[in-house]
Amino acid sequence: EQVYRDGVSGARPRVPTTTGELEQRARRAMSRRADAYVTGGAGAEATVRANRAAFERWQTVPRVLRDVGSRDLSVELFGRRLEHPLLLAPIGALDLVRRGADLAVARGAAAAGVPMIVSNQAGASMESLAGIGRRWFQLYWSTSDDLVDSFLARAEATGCEAVVVTLDTTMLGWRPRDLDLGHLPFSRGLGIAQYTSDPVFSRLARERAAAPRSGPAPRVTPQAVRTLLEITRNFPGSPLENLRSPLPRAAVETFLDVYSRPHLSWADVATLRSRTSLPVVLKGVLHPDDARRAVDAGVDAVLVSNHGGRQVDHAVAALDALPGVVGAVADRLPVLLDSGVRTGADVAVALALGARAVCLGRPFVWGLALAGADGVEQVVADVLAELDLTVGLAGASRASELEVGRRY
Ligand code: FNR
Repeated sequence: EQVYRDGVSGARPRVPTTTGELEQRARRAMSRRADAYVTGGAGAEATVRANRAAFERWQTVPRVLRDVGSRDLSVELFGRRLEHPLLLAPIGALDLVRRGADLAVARGAAAAGVPMIVSNQAGASMESLAGIGRRWFQLYWSTSDDLVDSFLARAEATGCEAVVVTLDTTMLGWRPRDLDLGHLPFSRGLGIAQYTSDPVFSRLARERAAAPRSGPAPRVTPQAVRTLLEITRNFPGSPLENLRSPLPRAAVETFLDVYSRPHLSWADVATLRSRTSLPVVLKGVLHPDDARRAVDAGVDAVLVSNHGGRQVDHAVAALDALPGVVGAVADRLPVLLDSGVRTGADVAVALALGARAVCLGRPFVWGLALAGADGVEQVVADVLAELDLTVGLAGASRASELEVGRRY
């Protein structure tokens, strides 16, 4: 409606409403490295494509004359109401796209009325985003339990409403677009603000800076060593080499030591419950049996996701995995979904298939690239407006009335 009203005076939307145009313009506006990082998926990107193809397979048969004059798509999650069934997915190292990115995303999300899931790899600390809209915190489970506890305590203290534990990134996926550019954002010190603002992490980094090179220091995982070697090999004048001050250099190295925890298992999840009062969401669940184990582990929700096709090439499309997970656990916990959601109509399909809410990923980054906080706000507002129209025009007043079927 707003677009039509503005159109009377000749005004045009600040960022394209057409998804394809939005993506193309944003990609042109980004640096090569930013584009590779945001666009890239794992391997030959079969899963990136599958995520989209999955949405194309579902159809709805709109119903008429059902009085859709007042529609309500608000949902309850963990005893609190969300006005819209939408959140912003956690996306790390966004300063590569635009300086001050996380602040802009937080403001854009708040203006559009949806919560932001603040990434563990954000370029801004949780504290610096406190008070801006509603926020959840996404955790990558560190090799340091002390650091995990510190992150959880900070998430609670800064008003985050839930903690999303990402399980599909115990190691970084094989991402050829980044590898070809010899690029990992973290090696330039991007996306490690949650760490450098953390007292436990600072202690670990100081210990490492003080330790003799071959000394014990914090434990170095084989993965961290491989990552470091990879960075150094790909960058003759590696940014790591250029970090002259021992502390920042130690900070990056310490980050690589503590970031990934490949030996994570269900036993760890079971202990998490006792370590935070926040609702716990497991992100990256695709198999119904894993969803059942999540219920057994006492968590509060699962987020069906393949990380936007960035981790396991040929992984099942998130939307294709959704019905199985919903069938297995939706009567006991809320099921959320991300990966491949581009439009409001996509959100409607996911809701019809039983998702309680949906996370928007790359599209808000495109808005950010083109117009900062305003761009994020507009992209989200567009998705919400299309969702509301689609639901109403399909003859539904609430998500439970939506019906979709496989294409026939
Ligand atoms: C991500 N994603 C992600 N997930 C997470 O738990 N923590 C993170 O820091 C990141 N970082 C990140 C960076 C970039 C550039 C992308 C594209 C994605 C995954 C994200 O939360 C979500 O699962 C996907 O973005 C969903 O896929 P689409 O819809 O964006 O294709």
